[in-house]
Amino acid sequence: MKPSLPGAGSMEGDPITELCTPAMVVDVDTVRRNAQRMIDRCQELGVQLRPHMKTHKTLECGDIMTGGTRRCVVVSTLAEASFYADHGFDDILYAYPLPFDKLESCAALSERLSLFQVLVDHPEALKLLSQRPLSAGRPWHVWLKLDCGNGRAGVLHSEPEALLLAQAIAKTEGVELTGVYAHCGNTYHCKGVDQIQAVAQETTTLTLQFMEKLRAVGINCKSSIGSTPSCSHPIKDMGQLSEVHPGNYVFYDVQQSLIGSCRMEDVAVRVLTRVIGHCPHRNQLLVDCGWAALSQDGGGKLPSGYAVIEGHPDLKLLSMTQEHGRVEPITGELDYRKHPLGSLLTLVPHHSCATAMMHSVYHIHSGGRLVGKWFPTRGW
Ligand SMILES: Cc1ncc(COP(=O)(O)O)c(C=O)c1O
Repeated sequence: MKPSLPGAGSMEGDPITELCTPAMVVDVDTVRRNAQRMIDRCQELGVQLRPHMKTHKTLECGDIMTGGTRRCVVVSTLAEASFYADHGFDDILYAYPLPFDKLESCAALSERLSLFQVLVDHPEALKLLSQRPLSAGRPWHVWLKLDCGNGRAGVLHSEPEALLLAQAIAKTEGVELTGVYAHCGNTYHCKGVDQIQAVAQETTTLTLQFMEKLRAVGINCKSSIGSTPSCSHPIKDMGQLSEVHPGNYVFYDVQQSLIGSCRMEDVAVRVLTRVIGHCPHRNQLLVDCGWAALSQDGGGKLPSGYAVIEGHPDLKLLSMTQEHGRVEPITGELDYRKHPLGSLLTLVPHHSCATAMMHSVYHIHSGGRLVGKWFPTRGW
């Protein structure tokens, strides 16, 4: 059977090898297993799971991650927030420093949903919220973003401004302090479970100490930390938090396996590519996966270059342009008979969030047979 164009009729039941390449394929059984493990882990820990939608941005995966409730999710763009709200999701936390240009859209979502929540890390943002009261006496539900060592958004946990801002949120009319949100993205610098758990412990301890400070001034609200590494190997104290908010775990990737969050068999995503050229004068193959289908994430620093080439530990994805990739052996001479023109190679991405962003359709399979397509939302 000839490869079919994505979108050109149903290919359900066909093997993934029939797909036109490059194509992103998602193993739905691995997705379900990863999602269920996180649900079970959080239940054991006694903490509410609020899964992040940023990795896949699809309804189907949102359904799986929430165990079908379509409630209690976190998003990183307004496009995601609107997409999920339009399709029956609720209790959505837009965990991005309140974007001033999108205030009106946030107000509309707050007025439309049972629970839409925004995130604030600056008094200017609070001022904007207080100047735009919501209809019918509804409050703005606000999370304070705390920086516990990640070094990105958020008020530094140790600065007096953090407590002052929390108090200001709590006492501003029309605004409610719903919780404190600290993202431990610094777990991405870890290698192995011990290092991951040390960062998880530090973030948890700093967040819980901040919650103590809040209680001392009469404020009670929720707390949330998380990342895929920390929530894949949670520490006991995370059970004292109200919520955790990991996202990437549903797909995982090579990066997560190197950090120690998962095993390679937990990675649910692949990019299929075909050999389109033989270049014996350079001891290379040309493939039809460039950065437009994989992303440049990882900078080619893996021993196998920009991705792991499944079943071929001897090969390296050396470099890419937009639509072409150069593959060469790690050592020795290429055996071109093993890679005829048109043959497939399977790439395991370094960072699945970045790779998924490059695709407008994900081909879903079970045991290598196509079972459907997922269409992610895009934009900001
Ligand atoms: C603010 C915020 N919360 C939660 C997450 C989810 O973390 P992870 O991708 O490690 O699962 C991210 C990821 O970048 C994030 O930026």
